[in-house]
Amino acid sequence: MQLKIGNISAIELAKTYGTPLYVYDKSILLNKMKELKDSFPNSKICYAIKANSNLDILKIIANGGFGADCSNAIELSYAKKAGFNLKNSLFTAVNPKDEDLKFALESGVTINLDDISILKRLLNFGTPEIISFRINPGFGKGKFPGIVVGGSGTKFGMNEDLAREAYKLAKQKGIKRFGIHMMTGSCVLYEDYFEELTFAIQEIANRISQSLDINFEFIDIGGGLGVPYEPHEKALNLKSIGERVEKAFTYPATLFLEPGRFFVAESGTLLTQVTTIKNNFIGVDAGMSTLLRPALYNAYHPIVLANNTESEYIQEANIVGPICENTDCFAKNRAMPLVKEKDILAIQVVGAYGFVMSSRYNGLLRPAEILVDNEKIEVIREREKIDDVI
Ligand SMILES: Cc1ncc(COP(=O)(O)O)c(C=O)c1O
Repeated sequence: MQLKIGNISAIELAKTYGTPLYVYDKSILLNKMKELKDSFPNSKICYAIKANSNLDILKIIANGGFGADCSNAIELSYAKKAGFNLKNSLFTAVNPKDEDLKFALESGVTINLDDISILKRLLNFGTPEIISFRINPGFGKGKFPGIVVGGSGTKFGMNEDLAREAYKLAKQKGIKRFGIHMMTGSCVLYEDYFEELTFAIQEIANRISQSLDINFEFIDIGGGLGVPYEPHEKALNLKSIGERVEKAFTYPATLFLEPGRFFVAESGTLLTQVTTIKNNFIGVDAGMSTLLRPALYNAYHPIVLANNTESEYIQEANIVGPICENTDCFAKNRAMPLVKEKDILAIQVVGAYGFVMSSRYNGLLRPAEILVDNEKIEVIREREKIDDVI
């Protein structure tokens, strides 16, 4: 049986639109949006745009009533263009440029700063009504070391003492409304963690509120909700996480979350054509420039033969791209069926941190992106052509 995405054969998509090709299944995205809303009925959810910033994907999420979490002026421009309500959105920048700060201030988004020095720079452009600071609680969690973004030695956020100084300065400068934020890591499948985070940030918020006599309007526990990539990994029970987190949240404020991966990861598939079979190497036309995660983190992605999803495994193969690096490898010693030249492989769970991390390294042009809604197909990004880049 051929792999289907929505109601469309992956082989037909590859024939019509060429490979490598990112394909998103709209129904999966909509289900994830619903799951998030149903699991956190009393919270505000901002989509972290960095996970997938295709404008059509952003429009679907904005239409669902979510806010956006943006990391710079460019992402903020995407959010505006996609129709996100910026009053419900956050700007969480690391080492922002002055231009980013000015743009954020003018756009009316809630600004969440990483350091007291950045507040001083921001105040050169005006005084926001509300300000938030990113706390580094001294711990973090994530699937790979590169995505643990809390804890000592990481560049993110401020410890509690420094944050207290930052809020104090903000109050002195006339800012009257406050939020507090924490983002400690990505792709967490440990279910207790989100409740632990909620307790941890509330304790910090309580101490800072009492010592400075300020109230927080919102408390943001960040993103980090993981999805299963590997066969042994289990999906999070989001309903139970939501119940536990909302029960743990007793501070009189609005709870914010800012997931990225959870919205989009599972809706995305990368179709790639087999160009070469050499010993136990299966060479394909996508490379680390098309999908970086395996090279960057040694990340696992499921890979299936789209021509026949039911064929038996007969070999252990390395699935590799056309780029001059040993890291240009999507899977090592992976159990695979018989694969022939021109077959199509589907690399799955690539909707988050997939296309957005692509590059033109080794001359590879960026692939097209397609949105499938049951029988309906929409090209949501044209394939790059050589004339676009020369
Ligand atoms: C500030 C911030 N918020 C949210 C996210 C989204 O994280 P995730 O995709 O793990 O939910 C990130 C990702 O790095 C981030 O840096």
